[in-house]
Amino acid sequence: MSDTTGGSFLLPPLALYIHIPWCVRKCPYCDFNSHAAGPTLPEDEYVDALLADLDIDLQHAHSRSLTSIFFGGGTPSLFSDRALGRLLAGVERRIAFAPDIEITLEANPGTFEQAKFKGYRSLGINRLSIGVQSFQEAKLKALGRIHNGDEAIRAADMARAAGFDNFNLDLMHGLPEQSIEDALFDLRTAIAQAPTHLSWYQLTMEPNTVFWSQPPELPEDDLLWDIQEAGQALLAAEGYAQYEVSAYAQPGKQARHNLNYWTFGDFLGIGAGAHAKLSTPDGRILRTWKTRLPKDYLDPAKAFQAGERLLQADELPFEFLMNVLRLSEGAPAELFSQRTGLPLQQLEQARREAERLGLLQADDTRLVATAKGQLFLNDLLQQFLA
Ligand SMILES: C[S@@+](CC[C@H](N)C(=O)[O-])C[C@H]1O[C@@H](n2cnc3c(N)ncnc32)[C@H](O)[C@@H]1O
Ligand code: SF4
Repeated sequence: MSDTTGGSFLLPPLALYIHIPWCVRKCPYCDFNSHAAGPTLPEDEYVDALLADLDIDLQHAHSRSLTSIFFGGGTPSLFSDRALGRLLAGVERRIAFAPDIEITLEANPGTFEQAKFKGYRSLGINRLSIGVQSFQEAKLKALGRIHNGDEAIRAADMARAAGFDNFNLDLMHGLPEQSIEDALFDLRTAIAQAPTHLSWYQLTMEPNTVFWSQPPELPEDDLLWDIQEAGQALLAAEGYAQYEVSAYAQPGKQARHNLNYWTFGDFLGIGAGAHAKLSTPDGRILRTWKTRLPKDYLDPAKAFQAGERLLQADELPFEFLMNVLRLSEGAPAELFSQRTGLPLQQLEQARREAERLGLLQADDTRLVATAKGQLFLNDLLQQFLA
């Protein structure tokens, strides 16, 4: 894992998030830091900026090697394999890769072809996350997507043919005018592509999006509930075990990069708007965030980092639990002290109250939400607010 410096605090595993902030066009539901790309992308300039950004952040690595890298967006598959190759080589010159490192790239149907996927694979990228959302034309149109259902299927075919035996498909449900059958059709079509992992998100309306100001008509709550239950049953029957609110995987194929977030591991974040969570050797936790707009991030007169904040000790229980309680199996109780440096007794009173309310399982060895607690995660977390 990692070194200890000074006290008894063992630094957590370290991951790297790399943000690519451009898309072909902006989807009306999306509040991620993504911007419509112009006719050309400043690939080389951006790769140089990412590496310079990483140079500054290396002070937080403390001799750890990277357990995972995630290229997220935006649409990282807009970048050429040449540019990503230069970036990955530059990262590896600066920080060692763990021997079994997981390297994931988000790819959108309609933004790549077979040769590009082969190129990515040869760089050591060993996992793809393909943004499908739906296989139904009317739904894709309502979501403003640039691809159709056939292209989404072809994307999965290409991934496999390029040697990606580990890939995720992103789907959304609770879409405008969606019936249970529509949602199950999407899941069945996805499962037929044999992905190792499925992310199945309920569509949410986010501030500062087109859907927020002009909301489409969404299924009623009862129908959303039925879709959720029917989908979960289908996924379980097909061998995709739910391990997080929206994440389902074949055995042993959970996303290691995401598991690191949910077990309160450390991560560096480089690129426009990227966030990081970093432990200090004396057991404090720092959150940092980078300049959000691509043109500002690329402006040599401006700093990459836009802000940082050391978390206060009384915020740590909430911050830790906000992550681990998303996991269906929660986490071993001792992980709380390992990650926060605080004694487990600090949670005692809130734990008993959450158990009494039926939101937390009465298990002294683990921190894990009950089914009711997962459903009312905010109520559960309220118990641990400072
Ligand atoms: C970082 S996004 C980008 C992935 C990729 N650019 C794409 O669109 O295919 C990751 C995933 O978040 C999900 N997502 C984005 N906005 C959402 C929203 N408002 N509600 C639910 N899920 C959302 C989508 O499934 C999307 O694939
Ligand atoms: S959903 Fe994906 S493709 Fe659409 S704007 Fe957001 S990041 Fe870009």
